[in-house]
Amino acid sequence: MKKSLKRAISILLCFAMLFCAGISTSAADDVVISRIHCTVYGDTATQRGISWYTNVETDTQVKVYTLLGLVDVTDSLTIETECEEWDGNYMHKAYISGLTAGTTYTYKVGDGSNWETGTFTTDNGDNLVNFVVVADIQASSLENFEKGKATIEAAFKKMPYADFYANLGDFTNDSTNEEWDYYAEAMDAINATQTIVPVAGNHDSNSGWFNNMFALDTTESVRTNNGVNYSFDYGNVHVAVVNTNDNISISNAQLTWLENDMNSTDADWKIVFMHKSPYSLGKDIKWPDACYLQESLAAVCDKTNVDLVMSGHDHMYLRTKALNDNKVVDQKDGTTYVLAGTAGSKRYEFRTFILNNYFSQDILEVAVSQKSGYGNYWDGETLDNADTNNIGGVFNTVSVVGGALKLDSYVLVDETGELNQIDSFTIVKATGENTVTYTGENVQKSDIIDTLSSFMSLAQYSLGTWLGMFIKTLPDLISTYIETGTF
Ligand SMILES: [Fe+2]
Repeated sequence: MKKSLKRAISILLCFAMLFCAGISTSAADDVVISRIHCTVYGDTATQRGISWYTNVETDTQVKVYTLLGLVDVTDSLTIETECEEWDGNYMHKAYISGLTAGTTYTYKVGDGSNWETGTFTTDNGDNLVNFVVVADIQASSLENFEKGKATIEAAFKKMPYADFYANLGDFTNDSTNEEWDYYAEAMDAINATQTIVPVAGNHDSNSGWFNNMFALDTTESVRTNNGVNYSFDYGNVHVAVVNTNDNISISNAQLTWLENDMNSTDADWKIVFMHKSPYSLGKDIKWPDACYLQESLAAVCDKTNVDLVMSGHDHMYLRTKALNDNKVVDQKDGTTYVLAGTAGSKRYEFRTFILNNYFSQDILEVAVSQKSGYGNYWDGETLDNADTNNIGGVFNTVSVVGGALKLDSYVLVDETGELNQIDSFTIVKATGENTVTYTGENVQKSDIIDTLSSFMSLAQYSLGTWLGMFIKTLPDLISTYIETGTF
């Protein structure tokens, strides 16, 4: 069965379960079930995590069905649950194992009498993998969450057969209950039909909000104060999610974790999702935390043959050429870095003086600022261009078909509601060539030695590389501050 058809059926199942299977929803009582996410958890063919919140303390119950919601398979599965109070509400998590590969499931979560429903499809293991990537909605108001929702809806209209979607962080602005409630009001209906791959952003890490929002497999994670690392396979794609919020951006333990993780897979494609971006033309690249990733993270990607790094944080779209050791190489031999744009309405302008000071323009392929006014795209020679069709929320679709990976990026234009494609590129390479070179245990808990050595590494980079770049651009930074009131 085609994936698009399966997806359409699964959405219909949610409604069928609501109206036909005798399942009552939470509307009748004062129990509110919200912030529902189905996440990758361990083996994507046989496992999922589901999390949700309630406004009052309740039981934590999950039911799972197949065959149009008619067959209750809950008892055939292993489901571990947990519930705890979090900032005045109750966070529920369920870890489901024993699912069948390539199967569409419907589920309901609740307390036994109040329920909300959702659906997911497990990985069938073939080499056709499709996913959506968005970043940085970072909203505070319902209105702005709704704008982010419109971008994501446009993404699933473009790719209704997506296997999962990644949110590269900054789900909200301040991680308050009010903001997460607005987020849920806008996004719960979308999330009920998707498997999400969440990435911790700096705005999500406030007091541990991220770690209390999603049911993820963090048994091998390191540096889990303000986010988590985890990884998974989907078909012939291996994805590592990196937390860039602890120890400024990335600690030595995290770098070791990533290197081991990437050396533990023989998947054809190696992809990293993270929040902060090593290459950007926005305001955040000038600080050593992001810039340091050009050296630290990039070295691991070089060593382990990572194909694609997708990140956010700087609220614009940018793609480098394929790089190794920060130099341009043949596409199949290097790592391509994509700053995924913002799906929301907070957008950054180019800092034109970044170019050739913080990285060479030789490595830059595509850049779109999404913001109206002076200079919002790169034409290969200058950033001094404008195109009103680029003003809107950005989403990305990625399709892997065996040895070809294709990324397409679009702007949902504010003014017209039309889609404007801003980027498309394909990597083609031989499959079956990656081998596993690390088989040890990849668990290195945070400790004082990691903290000290990581700060030493960052300090060395800051004094040796970053400071010179920063001083060179200081006049531009000061004039920018005088003009705009911000660095
Ligand atoms: Fe951010």
